[in-house]
Amino acid sequence: MTAENIFEVEHVTLRFGGVVSLNDVSLFQKRGEILAVIGPNGAGKTSLFNSLTGVYQPQEGTIVFHRADGRSMSVIGKKPHRVAGAGVARTFQASRMFSALSTFDNVKIGAEDHRGFGVVGAMLRGPRTRHDDRRSDERTAELLRFVGLAERANVLAASLSYGERRRLEIARGLATGPEVLLLDEPAAGTNPAEKLDLARLIRRVRDELGVTILLIEHDMKLVMSLAERLYVLNFGSVIAEGTPAEIRANPVVIEAYLGTSTEASA
Ligand SMILES: Nc1ncnc2c1ncn2[C@@H]1O[C@H](COP(=O)(O)OP(=O)(O)O)[C@@H](O)[C@H]1O
Ligand SMILES: [Mg+2]
Repeated sequence: MTAENIFEVEHVTLRFGGVVSLNDVSLFQKRGEILAVIGPNGAGKTSLFNSLTGVYQPQEGTIVFHRADGRSMSVIGKKPHRVAGAGVARTFQASRMFSALSTFDNVKIGAEDHRGFGVVGAMLRGPRTRHDDRRSDERTAELLRFVGLAERANVLAASLSYGERRRLEIARGLATGPEVLLLDEPAAGTNPAEKLDLARLIRRVRDELGVTILLIEHDMKLVMSLAERLYVLNFGSVIAEGTPAEIRANPVVIEAYLGTSTEASA
């Protein structure tokens, strides 16, 4: 039996000294859903992602990741590579590609990374079988085609445009074969045309690959067109939950966030 929810977060509190980054946060995500987390700068969005991926260890609460095979993982206390290995992939707010490697090699390292050897291990490991190597080459080429970067496979990642870098990061996230992909501001730094392309790509990741999407995004037009449901964070607390229409009409959200400027913070 497949659990309907892929993530269940209950009463999570995360503190750094006197700073409360997440304050009694409870939320859930359904399998297959495109869910967004919005809120002003410093609201705790990235802290939530870090908590969901084992990077931060909240002092209170529980986070459960339910896999499609029916097994569940309690995330708090697990190391990031274990959470990733269980099927949770992510991209970062600031680009983390290897500029001096080709587009192809950046994705190929992502594909090898999930075997648990880590990035350095993947590069330093001794000779693998030709079969292994051909399989990850094929997988990499397939992912580059999927994200629209097949033509750019052999250029250095440093020479990609912002929009192309964002696609590369999505391909790297997908290379681990995840059940859920967490995207931290996937359209940051891109122009309006690139934003539209990214929105289309993210929807295809869900529709064609069946990967659940959790998204942090500042661009209101993008997030409202893409997300099926949203949570709003403010000062570490969930202040609202609902469909895009419900969130737009929510007086608490308008006062805390949307009211000031729809483009809000960068
Ligand atoms: N590693 C950390 N050490 C100390 N404070 C942190 C750390 N990570 C996040 N915070 C604090 O947690 C709060 C929420 O930050 P963050 O999750 O990055 O917000 P957002 O992504 O919504 O902009 C901020 O006050 C930030 O300074
Ligand atoms: Mg952030």
